Amino acid sequence: MEKFEKLTVVGAGYVGLSTAVALALLGREVRVLDTNLARVEGLRRGEPPFYEPGLAESLAQAAPRLRYTTDPAEAYDGSGIAIVAVGTPPTPAGHADLRYLYQALETLARYRVPLAVIKSTVPVGTNREAQRILGPGVAVASNPEFLRQGQALSDTLYPDRILVGAEEGWVFGVLERLYRPLLEQSFEELPWLPRPKALREALAGGYRVPLVRTGLESAELAKYAANAFLATRISFINEIANVAEAVGADIEEVVRAIGLDPRIGPHFFKAGLGYGGSCFPKDTRALAYLAKRGGYDFKLLRAVIEVNQAQRYRLVEKAEAVLGRLNGQTIALLGLAFKPGTDDLREAPSLEIAEELLARGAHVRATDPKALEQARQLLDPRVQTFADPLEALEGADAVLLVTEWPEYRALDWAEAKRRLRRAVVLDGRNALDPQAMAALGYVYQGIGRGRKVSEAVL
Ligand code: UGA
Repeated sequence: MEKFEKLTVVGAGYVGLSTAVALALLGREVRVLDTNLARVEGLRRGEPPFYEPGLAESLAQAAPRLRYTTDPAEAYDGSGIAIVAVGTPPTPAGHADLRYLYQALETLARYRVPLAVIKSTVPVGTNREAQRILGPGVAVASNPEFLRQGQALSDTLYPDRILVGAEEGWVFGVLERLYRPLLEQSFEELPWLPRPKALREALAGGYRVPLVRTGLESAELAKYAANAFLATRISFINEIANVAEAVGADIEEVVRAIGLDPRIGPHFFKAGLGYGGSCFPKDTRALAYLAKRGGYDFKLLRAVIEVNQAQRYRLVEKAEAVLGRLNGQTIALLGLAFKPGTDDLREAPSLEIAEELLARGAHVRATDPKALEQARQLLDPRVQTFADPLEALEGADAVLLVTEWPEYRALDWAEAKRRLRRAVVLDGRNALDPQAMAALGYVYQGIGRGRKVSEAVL
């Protein structure tokens, strides 16, 4: 199997770089091809292009087996497998923009790489199109990725499953060999990325990570179905949270009660400001579009998207209700990244919230432990940004907690109260303890925390 020894990963984003680093850590020589010269040069110096836990250490450890280039001839020379993980961003109409993928495939077609593995999230049918572009001498496998940002390397090294869609039997064999160390978890865990306890225990009982073999279309659809289902859970629990507010129930108590049913489970049931990021918003829209194009109206998914959009404005509405008006008031936003553990602002609710607050005449102050630099480029210049959260709260009439960074749970809320003009905290992620906040004298509201709203008067 000498022929499949050399590997090329195309695209040094979250998915491509995590895959390249993981395979290099497992002992493979990997060449990484990216069209972005600044990114390639940074990687050559050992600099991670984005914040991701354990990435800097892993890049350093795997450096001898990683080569970065913008030159396809160098990247593909003698390569047996091309793992394609370029971005598929959304177009304004809601479908996936496949431009970068097709460019990458057209380049790849000029080299004699026998197996193309598509990791990018792509609409159903794209792998067949890839097959057409690459021609009969090349096999195509669909190999969607399920990693989460903020845990990208850990999810890659310790996957729940590896999904491979292909047409020819030998392709499964080649990828089974490529991923064997991951399937068998036969490698030493990294000190900075420990193996999850549940996986360790399962392995002790003889468990092996499943390799799911499917056809091309099923693998493509499975990726969208996974994200659409997870998005549905979030919109569902957010609607129950909104009902909880209307009827005086507490969403955290409801989730504890229903999550114990093994058919339901407790995961992915955090009520809040809805989902953001580079995946759920894009993939839900793309699946709805894909269904529509195929003549099917995916009503449930359309509602999931609509609920998510409305959810983003819950805190703005609450702030207006508590303060009476927003015009002329100062609002502090705690957290800008779309979720904790990342500096990514793609489809972050914070951006729309800031816009809406400005539109209603408020002054906006904002902070984030990791995303501040990127945020300064995206936010309206009227939004003032601060590295120190306490400074961001200075003189504010209300605090909106938008991203549940651990730093904000650990904040000295007694000191914060001295800095604020009015002690109002609206917690968009239910990150804080309502009783503790009430005890400190705050007017506190979470999402769906019906009776656990402190009624202290302003
Ligand atoms: C998501 C999926 O979880 C991954 O499995 C998938 O591989 C990835 O998309 C992708 O398609 O590439 P990610 O976007 O990194 O990963 O982030 P998640 O941790 O899943 O969170 C997504 C959004 O949902 C965040 O805005 C988060 O705040 C929100 N969320 C998540 C909730 O509002 N409630 C929850 O209970 C969970």
